[in-house]
Amino acid sequence: MSNVLLTGAAGNLGKVLRNKLAGQYDLLRLSDLGEMDPAGPGEETVQCDLGDAGAVMQLAKGMDAIIHLGGMSVENTFEVILNANIRGTYNIYEAARKNGVGRVIFASSNHAIGFHEREKRLDADAPLRPDSLYGVSKGFGEILAQYYFDKFGIETVSIRIGSSFAEPANRRMLATWLSFDDLASLVRRAIAADRVGCTVVYGASDNPEQWWDNSKAAFLGWQPRDSSAQFADDPKFRDEVNDPSDPAVRYQGGGFAAAGHFED
Ligand SMILES: NC(=O)c1ccc[n+]([C@@H]2O[C@H](COP(=O)([O-])OP(=O)(O)OC[C@H]3O[C@@H](n4cnc5c(N)ncnc54)[C@H](O)[C@@H]3O)[C@@H](O)[C@H]2O)c1
Repeated sequence: MSNVLLTGAAGNLGKVLRNKLAGQYDLLRLSDLGEMDPAGPGEETVQCDLGDAGAVMQLAKGMDAIIHLGGMSVENTFEVILNANIRGTYNIYEAARKNGVGRVIFASSNHAIGFHEREKRLDADAPLRPDSLYGVSKGFGEILAQYYFDKFGIETVSIRIGSSFAEPANRRMLATWLSFDDLASLVRRAIAADRVGCTVVYGASDNPEQWWDNSKAAFLGWQPRDSSAQFADDPKFRDEVNDPSDPAVRYQGGGFAAAGHFED
């Protein structure tokens, strides 16, 4: 895979991956609605809206793989989610199909399964239980990926990212944390593997508290190296008050599951 498109390149994880994947492919084409730093060696930047089918068609030209991070990354109105995540992801798959791009790495989310309770250990076959319109849009992306695989053979690794930040910010994230290095190694494996089919993998580091079972994606050979254990003794987590009857504590999606409907 020598030519790789990275959408969402101006976002938090886009910047992380731009940095960590630098120099590893012949071309890293970076795209976002927002402004990006100027292209360096082996890079191109293209500013466009994922909702613009014509622009996305151009974006995928000559690419071997697409890392699709772009979109609305938290809950929002249906109109915003519709354009950025639903239409945007459809445009990405159509562009992949028409340009002969064989593989997509899709940034899905734990919020696609956020209404499962925390005591349940989920694997890749757990039913979708989105906790928000945002989570619904990620479920849509995963199902779209399945359709494009079954009909057209386009492969996808959908990464149900937990919480990918420099450090966990609250007690829930001690379970859901995905370090930046582990994110990058997972994306690299998803691109390098000979075959991936249509696979769901949970994006979490090797944390002591584990809600997710990645055995069905074991063929990828991805081993997270980091762990939230190094943060667990921090008093800010120990002293955090967690009421077990609070939906934010009961459900895996945390605050997204507890929040009201965004449109109300
Ligand atoms: N950070 C996490 O912990 C986490 C967890 C679960 C899933 N994810 C997913 O990973 C991806 C990256 O997350 P992030 O934290 O970097 O989010 P982010 O919000 O920082 O980045 C998303 C980027 O997408 C761009 N974008 C939004 N709408 C667009 C549109 N219509 N056209 C083109 N670009 C558009 C934004 O400008 C932004 O730069 C997202 O898809 C998010 O849903 C992230």
